[in-house]
Amino acid sequence: MKYTYYGHSAFLLELDNAKILFDPFISPNELAKGIDIHSIKCDYILISHGHFDHVTDVEVIAKNNDATIVAAYELASYYGAKNFKQHPMNIGGRWNFGSFTVKVVSAAHSSVLPDGTYSGNPIGFIITEETRSIYYSGDTGLHMDMQLIGNYHKLDRAFLCIGDNFTMGADDAIIASDFIKCNKITGMHFDTIPYIVIDHQKTIQKFEQAGKTLVLPEIGKTYEV
Ligand code: NI
Ligand code: MN
Repeated sequence: MKYTYYGHSAFLLELDNAKILFDPFISPNELAKGIDIHSIKCDYILISHGHFDHVTDVEVIAKNNDATIVAAYELASYYGAKNFKQHPMNIGGRWNFGSFTVKVVSAAHSSVLPDGTYSGNPIGFIITEETRSIYYSGDTGLHMDMQLIGNYHKLDRAFLCIGDNFTMGADDAIIASDFIKCNKITGMHFDTIPYIVIDHQKTIQKFEQAGKTLVLPEIGKTYEV
């Protein structure tokens, strides 16, 4: 498994037989202006919730790739009504997409589309391909249900929001990392706007002191899971 960072909470996860794009908010992101959204190739677009900073480029990229949108029932149905391919899910559900599975887990946040459309509950995802699994938290505060993830999944990496103010900050993400029993963390939802600017050095050190490795990914760069 490999992943490429497109800024904010947008990642492309490359499995052996499928490419999954998470929360594409790229074209309005000043930090990601080097990324051409028309160059992105994906089979699925997974959306954690309806806030603008997670959905802005969904429609263009879905159309370019004839990609299937996977999201909470209400949010998926919104795209379905606009004739996009979609697969509705909800918290606790797992689906086998052929070469990988998606399990939807809870997130403690809110979810509404920019036009005011109710978009169901915010969610996180566990992606499993054969023996490998990753957790993508979406926007969330720290919550006790994360312990369930750690009790029942062996994670190879977790993508956790760390920007604070709207979501977990570093201190809570470190506790989350304990809850999910995964010490390999990739940070997201940081630096995009002034509310969530973080000190990279200090944040990486905090994780190190807790016995964990934090990757603060560079936009446009590809990493091994
Ligand atoms: Ni949000
Ligand atoms: Mn957000």
